[in-house]
Amino acid sequence: MEISHDTEGLPVKIAIRKPLDGHEHLRRDSMLKMVGPMVAKRFRAAIVMPNTVPPITTESQVCGYLKEIWQATGPDFLPLMTLYLTDTLEPSHVEALVGVGTVKGIKYYPRGLTTNSDSGVKNPSSLWTSGTRPYECLQALAEHGGVLLLHAADGFDENGVELDPFDQEKHFIEHTLPRIRDAHPKLKISVEHLSTKWGVEYLLKHGGPLLGCSLTAQHLLLDRRDWLRGGFHPQRFWWPIIQPTEHREALRVLAKADKPFVWLGSDSAPHPVEKKRADCCAGGVLMAHAGIELYVEAFENMGALDDRFERFASINGARFYGLGDSDETIELVREEWTVRHSPHIADGGTSKEVIPFRLGEKIRWKLVA
Ligand code: NCD
Ligand code: ZN
Repeated sequence: MEISHDTEGLPVKIAIRKPLDGHEHLRRDSMLKMVGPMVAKRFRAAIVMPNTVPPITTESQVCGYLKEIWQATGPDFLPLMTLYLTDTLEPSHVEALVGVGTVKGIKYYPRGLTTNSDSGVKNPSSLWTSGTRPYECLQALAEHGGVLLLHAADGFDENGVELDPFDQEKHFIEHTLPRIRDAHPKLKISVEHLSTKWGVEYLLKHGGPLLGCSLTAQHLLLDRRDWLRGGFHPQRFWWPIIQPTEHREALRVLAKADKPFVWLGSDSAPHPVEKKRADCCAGGVLMAHAGIELYVEAFENMGALDDRFERFASINGARFYGLGDSDETIELVREEWTVRHSPHIADGGTSKEVIPFRLGEKIRWKLVA
């Protein structure tokens, strides 16, 4: 990473290898047309989440989605595709698609615990119980070197009692993840959007070539106080929900620790405003308009805006997913700007607003276009 300072020693400009976004919801249709260029400007590649409606589970869906993404981003952007793990996903599809490299991994969604997770796995035990489709899919995935991406949350404890949302990740880390790892010792696993101190402790102990995690900027920047200060802020509501301060602090410790198994995954997850202001507010927020800038801010806040940042953003995730280091670079300058623009998308003849994270607020770093 190249970094320039002003006369007072304040960093004013950085250049990093073009990063990889390890967790991106590009959506489809007009949302994709809006988000695609934002992402391609900042990232060389992204792991594309499969929780579209309908979910991505077959070769023809993967190919159709790929074409649509390239129309929105241009051909230089590299979409790294994933399949949605359902209770009926075909192991033969996994074998065929991961085997030739068209698909990089499979995303596990616990049914009902996040946006568009209704097709997710009903019973987490099927991940480690032989004879079930999800188990067979993970066997095929491991055999072909693909990655299991985990939405690391459990809805219920062993006695069937519904868990508190603030304990969903804890339960998964303590009960579900070890069982998956025992059942599939050769499987590469990424814990997505790690959000708790329990997750951090586990990763620090067990992280390595077969187990890593992605971190979002929002979980590094905010904690539960920011979400509920003066009332409920829908633009700060996403899954996994933000935890109390001690968890944010633990995530910062992990991000600063410069571990090769920790990388950037923005979890940019845009929704039309009516879904955010509905009786039941959808989890997920558009981050792609500042998809790298917010991380620069977070790393600067942590006192870690140095080579560690480039490894986190551009090297670690890329290597985990089998990519070489990028030759391209992007530049950012210290130049405060206000998020003013709320994009509108066309949806069935009407125009719908999508509210970006930090609308009306300032961001300290700017991408050099
Ligand atoms: C995501 C979405 O909207 O698709 N929402 C979110 O709150 N992060 C789904 C997900 O990644 O859990
Ligand atoms: Zn997500």
